[in-house]
Amino acid sequence: MSKKRIAVLAGDGIGKEVMPEGVRVVDAAARKFGIDLQFDTFDWSSWDYCEKHGQYMPDNWKDLVGGHDAIFFGAVGWPEKIADHTSLWQSLLLFRRDFDQYINLRPARLMPGIIAPVVRRDGTPRQPGEIDMYIVRENTEGEYSAVGGRMFNGTEREIVMQETIMSRHGVDRVLKFAFELAQKRAKKHLTCATKSNGIAITMPYWDERFAEMARKYPGIKTDKFHIDILTAHFVQRPDFFDVVVATNLFGDILSDLGPACTGTIGIAPSANMNPDRTFPSLFEPVHGSAPDIYGKNIANPIGQIWAGAMMLDFLGHKDAHDAILSTIEKVLDPKSGAPKTPDIGGKASTTDLGKAIAAAL
Ligand code: NAD
Ligand code: IPM
Ligand code: MN
Repeated sequence: MSKKRIAVLAGDGIGKEVMPEGVRVVDAAARKFGIDLQFDTFDWSSWDYCEKHGQYMPDNWKDLVGGHDAIFFGAVGWPEKIADHTSLWQSLLLFRRDFDQYINLRPARLMPGIIAPVVRRDGTPRQPGEIDMYIVRENTEGEYSAVGGRMFNGTEREIVMQETIMSRHGVDRVLKFAFELAQKRAKKHLTCATKSNGIAITMPYWDERFAEMARKYPGIKTDKFHIDILTAHFVQRPDFFDVVVATNLFGDILSDLGPACTGTIGIAPSANMNPDRTFPSLFEPVHGSAPDIYGKNIANPIGQIWAGAMMLDFLGHKDAHDAILSTIEKVLDPKSGAPKTPDIGGKASTTDLGKAIAAAL
């Protein structure tokens, strides 16, 4: 099999701490399954680079990584030094847009050994696998638009506005992906996140396209909730959900909430995919650079490691993906006695947990 080239961009904060563990486990899986991988590490897409060069990425960033098979990404953001909307629009959001990574696939699953903060109605704890959903987030348009403006700066008449953009092409392709995914799942259940009661132009359009697409998938059970009550349902009955499709902003919110319901956002992965494979796809944890814990080597590396597993799956190695996932489950199981990071009730370091997973693989 031909060599696969992975561009590695650790970025800022705990991105620098979890990335080595992500690479360690992906590399171990590659050896085990005979996958020929080459990791090319870049120091840009980081505040360190920006401090020297005045921008997060070099002008020719697309040439530097556009030919890679995938991008393995840590996290970006150093709010103490640079406004988040500047750093993120110079890095992660450029990748998503310019590489047309229109699907952001984010699983949330209750793993063994982790106590879900959301108990059942009768007060008993939820069991591993009881929460098991995919959030399919639209990743290139919607509420994240650069269209808008600001006028009369600093005066009483100051005005700011920002448009939400939905194209038929953009909406239909993410809905189609979500229906296809639901089709492959046991429950065959797809939930549409909306807010068409209040946001009266774009969201009714989203619902309309959802209903139209649903006609092509009669075998899928569908429902629709406004985002406000949907967040309540996530907390009160997370076991109800299977696949949830959402616009860019709603998907962002649900994909922190879903993993939080499973105990920690530190284990949640994210696949920013260009399913057409015209451009490289990007795999990262859901979490950010976590400046509050950076430098302590206590970040949970599982989000990065699971993202690495999704990357291998996307590159055609489902066996390696499945092996990493079952190893994560095995290591998290209290019976394993393996080290745990503080977010999941342990005292171990990022490195300890990463090494334990690589060794168990
Ligand atoms: P965050 O995800 O970085 O952190 C939120 C909370 O979760 C913090 O208390 C943090 O300590 C904890 N946490 C996060 N990851 C963890 C892990 N692996 N293990 C244990 N605990 C973990 O979100 P934030 O604080 O809103 O953002 C911090 C910076 O990261 C900002 O600059 C933000 O814009 C950026 N950000 C970047 C990305 C990305 O690159 N994809 C995603 C989210 C936020
Ligand atoms: C995420 C992050 C980003 C987003 C930020 C950092 C721009 O929260 O990947 O979930 O909103 O998409
Ligand atoms: Mn987010």
